[in-house]
Amino acid sequence: MNLVKLAGMAELNKITRRSALGAIAVTALVAPGELEATPDEPETEHEGDGPFYKPGAPERNVFLESGIAGTPFLLQGRVLDVTGKPVANALIDLWHADSSGEYDNQGWKLRGRFRTDGSGGYTLKTIQPKWYKAGNIVRAAHFHVKVSGATNPLLTTALYFEGDPYLNKDGMVKKSLILDVKETKKGRTADFTFVLRKA
Ligand SMILES: [Fe+2]
Repeated sequence: MNLVKLAGMAELNKITRRSALGAIAVTALVAPGELEATPDEPETEHEGDGPFYKPGAPERNVFLESGIAGTPFLLQGRVLDVTGKPVANALIDLWHADSSGEYDNQGWKLRGRFRTDGSGGYTLKTIQPKWYKAGNIVRAAHFHVKVSGATNPLLTTALYFEGDPYLNKDGMVKKSLILDVKETKKGRTADFTFVLRKA
């Protein structure tokens, strides 16, 4: 065996060793445990629940009842965890102001709790709320919402509406919480996916 051939074999050994190490590194990167620990959905941003939350709202996903006026609003979507897995039977507790910007603090108008189905899907039929003033602060129109799964920590947040004239004047608004609203013959509609932390 000549020197050139020996040098060539040494080089080949190096490459083979490098490839093997590379394969080990790739295997480690895609190990199932690693994948589960890597969030691939950003958690929905949190927001405070404000002064008008009341626990114990009726269980319903239709807020339309006598005495409720305003543009019908269909909100639908899914609840997932940070790995993208649907959260079945998640509890959604949602409340909001009416079309004049008032909350019902005596009764349960525009308040309700409902659950996701087996695919993490939910639907709510309500009306478009109006912006309101809280002291010197103007609040852009919003839905308040609390979402929790059987083993997922509680998410408290709010959803806003694209096109609201007060979005830029309300310092509490987070861009990721603004609904992309579509106008339909039956009113307005938007989709929103809530993403919960894992326990
Ligand atoms: Fe509010």
